[in-house]
Amino acid sequence: MSVMQTYKRFDLNFVQGEGVYLTEKSGEKYLDFVAGIAVNALGHSHPVILKAIEEQSKKLIHISNLYHDDNQIALAQKLVSLGDHHSVFFTNSGTEAIEGALKVARKYGREQGKSKILYMSESFHGRTMGALAVTGQSKYQEPFAPLIGDVQQVVFNDKEDFLAKMDEGVCGVIIEPVQGEGGINPVDPDFLNCIREACDKQDALLIFDEVQAGIGRTGSFFAYQGFDVIPDVIAMAKGLGGGVPIGALMVNKKADVLTFGDHGCTFGGNPLVTAVSNAVVDTVSNEEFLKEVKAKGEYFKEKLLPLVEEYDFIKGIKGRGLMIGVSIDTEKMAPGTIVAEAIKHKLLIVGAGKDTLRLVPPLVVTTGEIDEFMVKFKSTLEALKK
Ligand SMILES: Cc1ncc(COP(=O)(O)O)c(C=O)c1O
Repeated sequence: MSVMQTYKRFDLNFVQGEGVYLTEKSGEKYLDFVAGIAVNALGHSHPVILKAIEEQSKKLIHISNLYHDDNQIALAQKLVSLGDHHSVFFTNSGTEAIEGALKVARKYGREQGKSKILYMSESFHGRTMGALAVTGQSKYQEPFAPLIGDVQQVVFNDKEDFLAKMDEGVCGVIIEPVQGEGGINPVDPDFLNCIREACDKQDALLIFDEVQAGIGRTGSFFAYQGFDVIPDVIAMAKGLGGGVPIGALMVNKKADVLTFGDHGCTFGGNPLVTAVSNAVVDTVSNEEFLKEVKAKGEYFKEKLLPLVEEYDFIKGIKGRGLMIGVSIDTEKMAPGTIVAEAIKHKLLIVGAGKDTLRLVPPLVVTTGEIDEFMVKFKSTLEALKK
């Protein structure tokens, strides 16, 4: 095998996509509720994305960040105008956005002699050495230790544990508003308020990892807008490009500490990906679009809830907007068994954490397609019922 064996792949090879459907080499059509792991916000082959790629690729694809680029400027202005922040740095991925956020926190704390970064248990922030160091899942960390130092894990949603570790040496706290890979676990608003207050008191930066939860996924454009708290730094990626590789780091005035030479990225925010991202952001940030994401999320949850009564191995339904988790009783059923069975029913879903199925369809999914999901999902569950 010439491709390095780091992924355990399903025996599927997709050649085309349209909306919420993917077509396999064999010609078989699958309903895609994975969306490239919460990436294809507008589904596959959306006309605004195709148009942006076609038009921009005829003009210019890449120039490097040695020069100005109108697409990049427009996208940064758009992101700033949609939230409460001040400036944006573009990256190629989520993990790079997190690296940037960690560098911001370290530089912010430097003058005051602070360097500790607090992170949450069961979190996931990426695979680079910095992002991995603040990822609260030892299975990802252990083979690569030692990672970057002066980081400390806090039990997610545990105020007491957080307050015990939040001291004057802390320069930043990083948290996902809804944990994605960890199992679709929304943060407790009370815990979040406590973190915000403590960060203000200790003059530390609050960093939100919105790589998975941001860009409309939870029903507001930025995930923090669904809570009472405004972070100082936001990392985003995935849905931001709707399928092209782009990430971003957005900071408020206080956290705008990176200056010439502090950070860089050859590809980051090139004309092609920012052309696409502008189209995605214009579409997703529309108020009606976001209202619909919320409504469809509610509709979806209502349809899923009865399954808790119907199947003894389904424990509960959780999540926000179209970032939904189905909790599985792993003593009775392995989530991976359900994912594999779903494929036989031409349905794509993905696991998250130890005991959760993750449902993250394209945000353009219709209620009719959610109904179709329910039919396929129920036939999957029926096939597994003892
Ligand atoms: C919350 C979160 N942060 C960071 C990352 C890393 O992003 P990427 O895979 O684009 O580097 C992910 C990826 O799943 C994620 O879910």
